[in-house]
Amino acid sequence: MTTQFPKNFWWGAATSGPQSEGSFNKIHKNVFDYWYEIEPEAFYDRVGPAVTSNFYNSYKEDIALMKDIGLNSFRTSIQWSRLIKDFETAEVDEDGAEFYNNVINECLKNNITPVITLHHFDLPIELYSKYGGWESKHVTDLFAKYAVKCFELFSDRVKYWTTFNEPIVVVEGQYLYQFHYPKLVDGRKAVQVLYNINLASAKAIKAFREGNFNKVSQIGIVLNLTPSYPRSNSERDIKAAETADLFFNRSFLDTAIKGEFPDKLVKLLSDEGILWKGSLEEAEIIKNNTIDFLGVNFYQPRRIKAKETPVDLTKGWMPDKYFDNYDMPGRRMNPYRGWEIYPKALYDIAINIKNNYGNIPWYVSENGMGVQDEERFKNSEGRIEDDYRIDFIKEHLEWLHKGIEEGSNCFGYHLWTPIDCWSWLNAYKNRYGYIALDLETQKKTVKKSGCWIKETSKKNGF
Ligand code: BG6
Repeated sequence: MTTQFPKNFWWGAATSGPQSEGSFNKIHKNVFDYWYEIEPEAFYDRVGPAVTSNFYNSYKEDIALMKDIGLNSFRTSIQWSRLIKDFETAEVDEDGAEFYNNVINECLKNNITPVITLHHFDLPIELYSKYGGWESKHVTDLFAKYAVKCFELFSDRVKYWTTFNEPIVVVEGQYLYQFHYPKLVDGRKAVQVLYNINLASAKAIKAFREGNFNKVSQIGIVLNLTPSYPRSNSERDIKAAETADLFFNRSFLDTAIKGEFPDKLVKLLSDEGILWKGSLEEAEIIKNNTIDFLGVNFYQPRRIKAKETPVDLTKGWMPDKYFDNYDMPGRRMNPYRGWEIYPKALYDIAINIKNNYGNIPWYVSENGMGVQDEERFKNSEGRIEDDYRIDFIKEHLEWLHKGIEEGSNCFGYHLWTPIDCWSWLNAYKNRYGYIALDLETQKKTVKKSGCWIKETSKKNGF
């Protein structure tokens, strides 16, 4: 045995409501349900969110499978568009509440710690059409109301809550780079949304504390940290990487943990004349309502060089004004997803949290490798032999372990995802799970990596 993890380490996996449940019995639509309705051809093979992995109907069998492969924790999200009947009053839909109650109870019955996220990109479409979604401060209040309902209904059993999953992706996808509906390019709105989501998260945390739910549970946020590595040690490259880091990482990380936006970010946006509209009272809410623990999603690093190509600013300000992405020659790629594989980044993240963020308790809330056409790796017994995934996970865990040895306060590792699930635009193109899903039959079969994690979880290491 060479690599042993701390006692009670979380060996788990993560999914989200909209990517696994299917829209059975859902009373409202979220932005993705709506987008699929109006533009199904945008989704890989035209597979939409209606059935996904059928978790709404098969949660019992699915959780049993998770138990079978040794998982001791599981993150999913509540769909605002399933739980809440009336967004203004946060009146609860009985069927929605019963479903999430069942899921939570089933986890506990199987000794699996449920970790529940309140928002995983799935804004109810009604709140977008009425108010412009996260552009609106009113929506931040509605979010807090919805959050309170979740705490009231489930906090007796849910001990770990997270407000948002990857909030910067909402900013990037909806307002800058056009990969989430409504695919706008609007830097000013992007900046306001970035601020408003920070505020919404802090308001939910405030309500959590005021309702004394912190006596029984903890609350955090899940951020996709993409360490920015400069092309070279030149001053210009380093500055460009720092600026990218300000936008894509620190704009949520600093507020979540320190309760403040980085001064440099505020100055830069003020100089550009596009700083968000906020009040002193809101700054207080953000300041006083920081997280108890952090979830870190890590898939790929960000390689940055000083600006070389002019950015198209005809549509207004874009963060890309200050840096270019750098295609580092020879970097190791996952060709299916087009993402760089760089496991050492997990160590860098661990040390950054330790040195610069008060060594707050944190865990890897997502990491994983999406691979296309995995059936070609099936052996004669029908098991997918995904050795590439095992190697990928091991390498990441080795670097994580080094960070823990050096004192970083990491308490778990969740793979994306337990059972192959649906994804934004890519639908079922890339498979990530420990467990394979046959889309035709909904049959679920443990992959070789699922057998591996069972052993690893049992030994608390490898
Ligand atoms: C994370 C998200 O960014 O990455 C998940 O939290 C997503 O929702 C996962 O599915 C994998 O990315 P993708 O785009 O390949 O599905």
